[in-house]
Amino acid sequence: MSFSKPRSFYYLLHPRPVVIVVSRCPNGRVNATPISWITPVSEEPPTIALCIDRENYILQCIEHCGEASINIPSTDSVDTVYGLGTVSGREVDKVKEFGLDLEPCNKVSVPRISKCIGWLETKLVKRVDVGEVALLVMEVLDSYAKSECVTQWGWDVSRCSPLLHGAGRAFYSVGRRYFAGRRA
Ligand SMILES: Cc1cc2nc3c(=O)[nH]c(=O)nc-3n(C[C@H](O)[C@H](O)[C@H](O)COP(=O)(O)O)c2cc1C
Repeated sequence: MSFSKPRSFYYLLHPRPVVIVVSRCPNGRVNATPISWITPVSEEPPTIALCIDRENYILQCIEHCGEASINIPSTDSVDTVYGLGTVSGREVDKVKEFGLDLEPCNKVSVPRISKCIGWLETKLVKRVDVGEVALLVMEVLDSYAKSECVTQWGWDVSRCSPLLHGAGRAFYSVGRRYFAGRRA
């Protein structure tokens, strides 16, 4: 069997879900930045972590406001997601530029993106610096998914697939579902 080296170690950990992180910024605008390095951390308390390059404005926004909505785009939003990752909210009003429709959240003061198929409402708990990245630990205060998009097994990917990020411009939808057998 032959193996080859990936372009980078992290290529082996993609495709993975990409989210659009929305927060309110020191420049007075709402910013929206795609992030694919996101992970659940604990259930009690409900916690996630975001890995954000220290140069990215969304980091300053979350630290300024202390809250973020984590929006789950479907494959319908592939161009918007890629576009939001090519400009900075420092220079551009991304909400205007990309025509994002926003709605209020329930437990946090930042808005969410109407078109997304689900969202989490989060507050900043802790920052840990690793390399070029700030790992933000965020407590999840509330979460919702579009009812027609979920089953008892999570996303009903025959109706709406969350968007997965491969690398660069390459994105994926979720593929086949496999049920594991029961042990005798
Ligand atoms: C699909 C996709 C996934 C991305 N994932 C991350 C990520 O996990 N962490 C990160 O810091 N930047 C990530 N980026 C890059 C930022 O979204 C990009 O640098 C953005 O322009 C920063 O905007 P801001 O300065 O307004 O925050 C990603 C971009 C794309 C398109």
